[in-house]
Amino acid sequence: MSSKELPVDLLALLADGKYHSGEAIGGVLGISRAAVWKRLQSFQEFGLAVESVKGKGYCLANGVRLFDVDALNEELPALGIRSIDYHYTTDSTNTQLMKALSEGRADNAQLVIAEQQSAGRGRRGRQWVSPFGENLYLSLNWNFEQGASRLEGLSLVVGMALAKTLISLGYEGVELKWPNDVLVNGKKLAGILLEITGDPNGLCYVVIGVGVNVNMNDGKGAIDQAWTSLKLMKALRGQSIEAVNKTELLICFMRHLTNNLEKFEKHGFAAFTSQWQELDALSNKEVLVYQGEQVISGQCLGVNDQGEIRIKTSFGEEVFNGGEVSIRKSL
Ligand code: BTN
Repeated sequence: MSSKELPVDLLALLADGKYHSGEAIGGVLGISRAAVWKRLQSFQEFGLAVESVKGKGYCLANGVRLFDVDALNEELPALGIRSIDYHYTTDSTNTQLMKALSEGRADNAQLVIAEQQSAGRGRRGRQWVSPFGENLYLSLNWNFEQGASRLEGLSLVVGMALAKTLISLGYEGVELKWPNDVLVNGKKLAGILLEITGDPNGLCYVVIGVGVNVNMNDGKGAIDQAWTSLKLMKALRGQSIEAVNKTELLICFMRHLTNNLEKFEKHGFAAFTSQWQELDALSNKEVLVYQGEQVISGQCLGVNDQGEIRIKTSFGEEVFNGGEVSIRKSL
């Protein structure tokens, strides 16, 4: 077994989070107890914590909920997803899809998902913390025929699909911070990373990367901003602390996302402007807009029909299509 090979049969046995004796595991897998122990060691490389108690055996702390790939293969083609590329672990689903595109082997509407990313990428060169089995890490390839200039507002449309998904599943307090952070109570729940290649005036290939914190309890000190997860949101409201089913979440998200992408292709961002206002975390807030070295201060007036942020400054209204925005702390 290579050092980065996941013993999937053993993982399936321990996924329930209960104790299994070395003898019982060995019996099911037809291997010796020493071989069981050796396979368990390799879980550590995937960040999976194995607990062992004398007399009880081994367990995976909290268990692990993998994607139900059969269910995805059954549900997603009807939504226009042409192929699903499933990884237990990969560097980054975006990187994989960008590579497939550059080698001419990516389908339109190809979905790449992973249980773990070893080099998950966030915006502005940040890392995206991607522990095994806990969250949603996905990249979808979508071809647009009308050039890069028609893609303004696309990342907002992706965020809106995710917010609508979460609201439809009963999650409350979901907001969007321009351009594409999904927040709950000011804490980051999900992020979006779009990467565009192709002809700026013609056929463009967009890799839509989305990471959602689903069952993560612990950012292991690696996340440098306030964050939350769907499981933590439920726990805070005194609801079940059962793991959230990420397969159902993914199917529901793909339904909203493919709808939004088709609508965006036909009508552009203008078809979404009014819906954005309902989800806008910055609406009417005093904000700071960072444009390189420059910082502009003013009141956020929402977005225009191109998805640009509108700011009322002391010089009048200004619009921005890039940069970072933060809420201005009151003095
Ligand atoms: C952000 O910084 O807010 C964007 C985060 C995007 C993370 C997702 S996880 C799936 C896909 N693969 C990556 O490497 N990044 C995106």
